[in-house]
Amino acid sequence: MKLTISPQKPDAVQTDMLVVPVFEDTPDFERAIEWLRDPLKKEARKLAEHIAFKARHKKTLSFFTHHKIPPYLVLFVGIGKKEVEETLFTNRLRELGAITIRASRSYRVERAGLVIADSIFAKLNPDAVGKALVEGIYMGSYAFSKHKKQIKKPELQELIIFTKQPIQKGINIGKRISEGVNLARDLVNEPAQFMKPKDMVAAAQKIAQNSSKLIAITVMDREELKRQNFGGLAAVSQGAREEPYFIHLHYKPKDAAAPSAARKIAIVGKGITFDSGGLSLKPAEFMMDMKIDMAGAASVLGFFSTLPFLKPIWEIHGLIPTCENLPSDTAIKPGDIIKIKNGRTVEVLNTDAEGRLVLADAFSYATELKVDAIIDLATLTGACVAALGKDIAGILGNDRELLEAVIDAAKKAGEKVWQMPLEESYKKYLKSDVADLRNIGKVRQGDTILAALFLKEFVGKTPWLHLDIAGPAWTDKPLYAYNPRGASGFGARTLVEYISS
Ligand code: BES
Ligand code: ZN
Ligand code: ZN
Repeated sequence: MKLTISPQKPDAVQTDMLVVPVFEDTPDFERAIEWLRDPLKKEARKLAEHIAFKARHKKTLSFFTHHKIPPYLVLFVGIGKKEVEETLFTNRLRELGAITIRASRSYRVERAGLVIADSIFAKLNPDAVGKALVEGIYMGSYAFSKHKKQIKKPELQELIIFTKQPIQKGINIGKRISEGVNLARDLVNEPAQFMKPKDMVAAAQKIAQNSSKLIAITVMDREELKRQNFGGLAAVSQGAREEPYFIHLHYKPKDAAAPSAARKIAIVGKGITFDSGGLSLKPAEFMMDMKIDMAGAASVLGFFSTLPFLKPIWEIHGLIPTCENLPSDTAIKPGDIIKIKNGRTVEVLNTDAEGRLVLADAFSYATELKVDAIIDLATLTGACVAALGKDIAGILGNDRELLEAVIDAAKKAGEKVWQMPLEESYKKYLKSDVADLRNIGKVRQGDTILAALFLKEFVGKTPWLHLDIAGPAWTDKPLYAYNPRGASGFGARTLVEYISS
């Protein structure tokens, strides 16, 4: 699909369909039909009155023009009230972009137009408008269909955004970001048979190769992991024939004399390419979706793919422990005691609580890099889904400033997060009689908090933030028009907003 910008009048260009956003308050419909000429203008007004079109958010009005102007259909889309919070309005523009794509598909349109009048810019600057629209357009275009028989359908060839404002820069940024999200979705949607640890490595290598040398990559295999005492990753992967890997991506701003404001951070993603539970085997219905257990890693990769374009002034390490969690005669057994990279021992009482073991190694490694902050994304606990539902990620951490910054970034990205308490008094439930820690609580309550408390033991004094994305990593019932069913790429855009802040 070609995306173009045109300063012309919407009916002066050949299109099959025009999408026109309309505000709900102050009768905005007259403004929205300004460019139409009589008798079409009159007819549109009459139709809107007839069906009492209020332009409430996401309500649409289809107006067929019977060949009096080039587009045969004008779709008016309600975008709600003008006086809403900036982040909410931004998200409505993303949705508008996605609705435009969907309508183009259902009407089998080849050339579509999206009319962005000046009134839209009263709330947001041109960069932000362009970025939001395009994020919605590309995220909303996403489909994972490579394993389906290809049926030739007429595709949208061109989308023209009608505006006189300079939105090109925002468009370029939004395009890269949504491509990053869609990359993460592709990795997660791919079944575990095709997305093994080595495929994660290949995906990471590709990102480094396409980075104009801005991203370096180091990959450690099983032998190297043992040599460097990655006891968590070695233990979780020992039941599987597939080789485990630790992927280290390193983005460094080109300008070596980076300003003093620049930070050095590590982003860690859980990369279990399939989580059967190991010998503490999951019941079949809970195992069905477990190809998604590398969604944290996928979002880190999606995020990294945007860095060579966004060129932040921060130094960013991307750390991905990746392996399969499978039962076999070589698998780790409940009761085994393992040693994490930083020397602390863990009594593994449930092999299904494997994410925290591989993350613990990654955190130990991150602290050796002396980073200013660690952020991890992980499909870590079913309890988080029980507590917050499918659309909201749990957020926990040991540093108020970092928490506030990431919560703010998530809001800007339109990704829902909710903070949970890192309740220190629960630490007693992680005490082991035979090792430094046990990997599950003595009580099966507050699992999300216990998992985070476990992780906290491996970050030392480094400010750290944990996103439990077990719920929102996968979409069953789409929250927004730009969320297709399946993998969401959740987290990648929050990270982008965070490093752009
Ligand atoms: N990968 C799962 C968590 C998960 C559940 C992700 C649902 C996505 C959707 C994780 O490794 C796991 O199995 N956690 C256990 C922990 C328990 C044994 C303490 C869980 O949540 O049941
Ligand atoms: Zn598990
Ligand atoms: Zn898992």
